[in-house]
Amino acid sequence: MPEPVLQQAAADMLDWNGSGMSVMEMSHRGKEFIGICEQAETDLRELLAIPDHFKVLFMQGGGLAENAIVPLNLSGGGAMDFVLTGSWSQKSQKEAAKFGTARVAATAQADGFTTLPAPATWHMGADSRYVHICSNETIHGVEFHELPDLKALGCDAPLVVDFSSHVASRSVDWSRVGLAFGGAQKNLGPAGLTLVIVREDLMGHALSHCPSAFDYQLVADNQSMYNTPPTYSIYVAGLVFQWLKKHGGIAAMEQRNIAKAQLLYDFLDNSSLYVNKVAKDCRSRMNVPFFLRDESRNDAFLAGAKAANLLQLKGHKSVGGMRASIYNAMPLEGVQALVAYMREFEKTQA
Ligand SMILES: Cc1ncc(COP(=O)(O)O)c(C=O)c1O
Repeated sequence: MPEPVLQQAAADMLDWNGSGMSVMEMSHRGKEFIGICEQAETDLRELLAIPDHFKVLFMQGGGLAENAIVPLNLSGGGAMDFVLTGSWSQKSQKEAAKFGTARVAATAQADGFTTLPAPATWHMGADSRYVHICSNETIHGVEFHELPDLKALGCDAPLVVDFSSHVASRSVDWSRVGLAFGGAQKNLGPAGLTLVIVREDLMGHALSHCPSAFDYQLVADNQSMYNTPPTYSIYVAGLVFQWLKKHGGIAAMEQRNIAKAQLLYDFLDNSSLYVNKVAKDCRSRMNVPFFLRDESRNDAFLAGAKAANLLQLKGHKSVGGMRASIYNAMPLEGVQALVAYMREFEKTQA
């Protein structure tokens, strides 16, 4: 989280804007909260340049719930195609199989998820209801730097994108997207809020057994207030949107993220102790997994990092090693401090 956002939330905690209430105490139907929510949507639309024919939904359940909610709304119980590029897209495919035929259009499993299968090699069925990708694999550190153009591949199905872990870190080409979803907790705000941005024509086709609170059309018709939305998370996300706007919006954030990632990858590539295994053209700017060539030094590395106030560097348990998650709120100085520590640690291993 950007520190100014936390400071603003702290200042507003007991009394938001002279209302005499904390945001947590507001009715979601009161004018104060409706104003907060509308402003958040307006700012997000401006930041991400979301076209008018897309709805912005503020939901709950996180990315994993969307793995079920998307097929409940879009699959019609038919066939869907998944591009497997890491743990998160694998999970999405497995979950969707409960609601229809979840096919694998392509997979990078044989490469240990260190590459992205070229779109021209994907196999989508003519009956595909949608094609799913995870545009940034948080665990494997693989990112699509360009969204696939399904139309150019001869596929008319809409593209569904799980952009949980790099939303707002770069611009989005909405002409290639049918629906994008993401949990807020990486780049947008606190956990609890799930963002869904969906093309209007894709709504209104939910399966009859889709829970009402998860029916995109109902949620949209009720301005995300069919059920009580995660009000406090929406408010804090709104503060993050204002922070993003103040700091030059998504274009400025993207430049900053490129600089941060380049610094870290350049260091890794020139090191004899550390290694990143992801192919250069699909390395994530947000999540940088790396390994010590001598894994017996892992604990010492982490202990030294903690002493230097560099936290949460342990890699995901499914892949091991280390991972630096350098989300929007991480300043360049944070990555510089990490690289300085890593350089010093490497020297002590010589
Ligand atoms: C890309 C991606 N998708 C889905 C999820 C799952 O999100 P949640 O924990 O909000 O359900 C995560 C969580 O880290 C993620 O990184």
